Amino acid sequence: MEEYFPFSTSSVAETVAFGRRLGEHLHPGDVVALHGDLGTGKTHLVKGVAATAGVEIDSVSSPTFSIVNEYPGTSHIVHFDLYRIKTNRELVELGFEEYLDRDAIIILEWPEMAHLFLPDNAIHIRIEHTGGDTRIFRLADS
Ligand SMILES: Nc1ncnc2c1ncn2[C@@H]1O[C@H](COP(=O)(O)OP(=O)(O)OP(=O)(O)O)[C@@H](O)[C@H]1O
Ligand SMILES: [Mg+2]
Repeated sequence: MEEYFPFSTSSVAETVAFGRRLGEHLHPGDVVALHGDLGTGKTHLVKGVAATAGVEIDSVSSPTFSIVNEYPGTSHIVHFDLYRIKTNRELVELGFEEYLDRDAIIILEWPEMAHLFLPDNAIHIRIEHTGGDTRIFRLADS
């Protein structure tokens, strides 16, 4: 696995701002997989992406129980949290593959379970918590 462009933030606001910058480069059809442990800032990155599409930041939260949230913005955003998904069958029953065909920006927390379903051109971001409020984001090819 190759990793590129380490980018670090040292506050929630910086992570949201980074998400906004990322969002400016995303279009419907893009799939973004956010890899990182609990509390690394995945949801705050999504808040920034959603804000770029005109979505109210406070309406964005981890869909840990609902599995998927949708935000209608200037681009439609589909936000998954697959933390509780344990089998491919659960993903299929959720209609995961159909979501990928939607004309939307798809952004996933805990994407590991969906690995086999993700397109080759998915954008992977690996997030590391290095202590305190510092988070390091690395673009990766898988
Ligand atoms: N630089 C930073 N960027 C983002 N969040 C930060 C940062 N520094 C501290 N935090 C804190 O880390 C937590 C990140 O929460 P967030 O919900 O975004 O994480 P998550 O990766 O989505 O977690 P989960 O896997 O539980 O959904 C928040 O409590 C936030 O206040
Ligand atoms: Mg989250």
